Amino acid sequence: MTDRYCVFGNPIRHSQSPRIHTAFAQQTGQDLRYEAILAPLDDFAGAVRAFIAAGGKGANVTVPFKQAAWRLATRLTPRAALAGAVNTLSFCNGEILGDNTDGAGLVRDLIDHLGVFLAGSRILMLGAGGAARGVCGPLLEQRPRALTIANRTVANAKALAERFAAQGAITGCGYDELDGHSFDLVIDATSASLNALMPPLPIGLFAAGSLAYAMMYGLAQTPFRAFAEQQGAARYADGLGMLVSQAAESFFVWRGVRPDCRPVMTQLLAAQ
Ligand SMILES: NC(=O)c1ccc[n+]([C@@H]2O[C@H](COP(=O)([O-])OP(=O)(O)OC[C@H]3O[C@@H](n4cnc5c(N)ncnc54)[C@H](OP(=O)(O)O)[C@@H]3O)[C@@H](O)[C@H]2O)c1
Repeated sequence: MTDRYCVFGNPIRHSQSPRIHTAFAQQTGQDLRYEAILAPLDDFAGAVRAFIAAGGKGANVTVPFKQAAWRLATRLTPRAALAGAVNTLSFCNGEILGDNTDGAGLVRDLIDHLGVFLAGSRILMLGAGGAARGVCGPLLEQRPRALTIANRTVANAKALAERFAAQGAITGCGYDELDGHSFDLVIDATSASLNALMPPLPIGLFAAGSLAYAMMYGLAQTPFRAFAEQQGAARYADGLGMLVSQAAESFFVWRGVRPDCRPVMTQLLAAQ
């Protein structure tokens, strides 16, 4: 019987996950079907249980259910427990195993596809929401010199830094405290671009050879990109590689096979 997987979200029509996982399955010869399911805002758990009852083997979870998935899981991987959010569920023998592959996906994209050397680097992350929370642990595992989290609501940046303090050199601050500092990697993990906005950043943030990385994908021009280019960032990348890489990591969790991301990234880029 063909194994069933899905992604739960609300809204979900925009999701590229069915396309990505279908391409992975074809590439690796795995017999599986992957669909997008609109879960009701007030009954995520019910939607998951119905999918399990129908024979579902695993699921991805996207906005706004990542924390609900964390609470629903009967067992968590260490990286999901630390992140406080789950984007990958596996259903086995009555257990719901929760994992988080967002951070592994970002790190893989940075290292494997973009050739970034993270050890000893100075990283600035803009934003302290769900996406930022999911990637702090895997970024700190790479032993950067410092990971600075800056956020509009400063208390959220400080809380995030406290949560991960035992994992490495991490601090939280407001945007006004960035004045006079420069970084090798600046990651925009805010949702400001959705409204054609960007955080109020000081000049001089981008060190020589630095990469500006926007987690958001699919927008050719954003205020963050324009700012980075004008401020002398050596390179710019968006989050398409992270999207495909976190999916590949989920695929590996479920099937034990690691697909090649590059052809799927090329396909998605061509379709944009
Ligand atoms: N490529 C991928 O695979 C991938 C995966 C996950 C997420 N993402 C992207 O990452 C982004 C963030 O997602 P999320 O789930 O973390 O969202 P979220 O939990 O809603 O957090 C949003 C963050 O953006 C900040 N923000 C929103 N509007 C802002 C503005 N006008 N100026 C400054 N800061 C602003 C918020 O600050 P406050 O705390 O002050 O509200 C918060 O830190 C989204 O664009 C999402 O599409 C990409």
